[in-house]
Amino acid sequence: MNESQNAAPSTPSVPSADASPRVARRRAHWIVSGAIAAACAAAGLSVWALNAPDQAPATVGKMVEQLTGANPHPVHLQRPPVTTQLSVMAQLGKQIFYDQTLSGSGKMSCASCHSPEHAYGPPNGLPVQMGGPSLTLQGDRPPPSLRYLYRQPNFSIGPDQGDDEQAPSLAQAADAASGVARAQKTAGVAPAAPAMVPQGGLFWDGRADTLQAQAIGPMLNPTEMANPSIDAIAAKLKTSAYHNTFAQLFGAGIFNNPNMLVSEAMFAVARYQFEDSSFHPYTSKYDYWLEGKARLTQAELHGLQLFNDPNKANCAGCHLSKPGKDGLPPMFTDYQYEALGVPRNTSLAATHNPKYYDMGICGPYRTDLAKQTQYCGMFLTPTLRNSATREVFFHNGVYHSLDQVMAFYNLRDIDPAKIYPRDAHGKVTKYNDLPARYRANIDKSDAPFDRKFGDKPSMTDDDIRDIIAFVKTLTDGYQPDSKVALDSKP
Ligand code: HEC
Ligand code: HEC
Repeated sequence: MNESQNAAPSTPSVPSADASPRVARRRAHWIVSGAIAAACAAAGLSVWALNAPDQAPATVGKMVEQLTGANPHPVHLQRPPVTTQLSVMAQLGKQIFYDQTLSGSGKMSCASCHSPEHAYGPPNGLPVQMGGPSLTLQGDRPPPSLRYLYRQPNFSIGPDQGDDEQAPSLAQAADAASGVARAQKTAGVAPAAPAMVPQGGLFWDGRADTLQAQAIGPMLNPTEMANPSIDAIAAKLKTSAYHNTFAQLFGAGIFNNPNMLVSEAMFAVARYQFEDSSFHPYTSKYDYWLEGKARLTQAELHGLQLFNDPNKANCAGCHLSKPGKDGLPPMFTDYQYEALGVPRNTSLAATHNPKYYDMGICGPYRTDLAKQTQYCGMFLTPTLRNSATREVFFHNGVYHSLDQVMAFYNLRDIDPAKIYPRDAHGKVTKYNDLPARYRANIDKSDAPFDRKFGDKPSMTDDDIRDIIAFVKTLTDGYQPDSKVALDSKP
């Protein structure tokens, strides 16, 4: 039985799922039928289908996919134009991005935590990075990758507000949403109820909307770049190696206005992230596969099928895997928030205080929705692009390998003793990183979390191995081999 079926004939006052583009995006996942007879190994058919993919019937397409690992229905992906020359503004931003003198320690730049060699994610496996004036203070959360953020929508709650100028405040929207049943997320199925959930925004809790607004956060954060004030940052910019560029772009008067100076500097950093192609390369094996320029191995293909299978891993229910109608490459996130009940990470010093809980949207780092306790424990669904290059996973950095992440998804409720520690009385402390009163917020309806204690896991060890193989195809920098392009016969 599933919630969305119960809610199906939705009340007329509630906008239908179709009204929301964000919800609509979720409807068209591939439902991949696993049952493909190996006997259909008709080589002639596959050659024909490979050469004329548009005319091949779906069943033949599936056979071709299974036999050759090629995408039977290649698409043209809409990539942003490759910039060969950065604007002067973006070049300035690049210098700021790598400038260690802008930190209190003099040893830390944006690139220290967002390493270009690691898809602009953390350079190491530390659960959180060390910062502050002497680089001895633990940060609060692991740094996300800075790739593909140009597609991140602004933070909002509930169905898309569209261009409505009278859009309610966040708190009003949250109140209105509080009585509405949460839409179930099933790969390949459009939710019957409108998704009254928070979406979009930057940071794990969505508390900043623009790259410009975001960038000032780490500059002032005492456990990160640890500048005491805007004036202190402005003073450093004034004597920086690139101060002439500021004068050139904004006039020499800019140095008399510290707020404006820092604001322009942050805008420049944002421009750099928008313009430089290294922030949105779309060069993963999966991108090339979508375009018919690479073939997946049997393991990768099987992993993709499980990833998209609503009854198995159901990863695509939240980590969207299909290109948009307009050929926009899939981002492997629905930009929505979920409470997954990730275990507490006791290697973070902050957790030694038993009252400390990082609850995402409802605080403590975000403050505007503190009263909206229905969102306590919810964090932004991250992209899985380049996930395989990370050595630290989830908002509290509790895991260090994809195997650990997969065990969590597979066993959280089925065998919690494998996921959570035991307390002094030997009792398994399930969902131990969220106060008991908020644990109803934890997702127990979407596969693979719809299983109960003692149920059969949704994934076997082999399934997990193949899903990880697939996640690895989302790493940028794959070199497509022209020999496997679809226009050459298999
Ligand atoms: C000490 C490590 C550190 C430094 C230095 C740092 N960041 Fe971050 N960055 C983080 C962490 C941690 C987060 C996530 C914080 C959160 O969710 O509360 C983050 C988040 C972000 C995000 C949002 C990403 C997302 O997916 O939502 C952007 C953009 C960003 N940082 C850009 C920058 C820029 C630009 C600089 C330099 C001005 C910088 N960072 C310096 C650690 C760092
Ligand atoms: C119900 C929505 C949902 C489903 C289904 C789901 N995820 Fe996630 N995923 C999330 C959210 C939300 C987070 C962040 C949670 C947090 O940090 O508290 C996340 C985090 C992750 C991360 C960590 C990424 C990082 O940068 O730290 C990986 C890897 C991941 N998911 C893979 C998968 C795979 C593989 C599947 C299928 C087995 C899956 N997810 C199914 C919502 C989902």
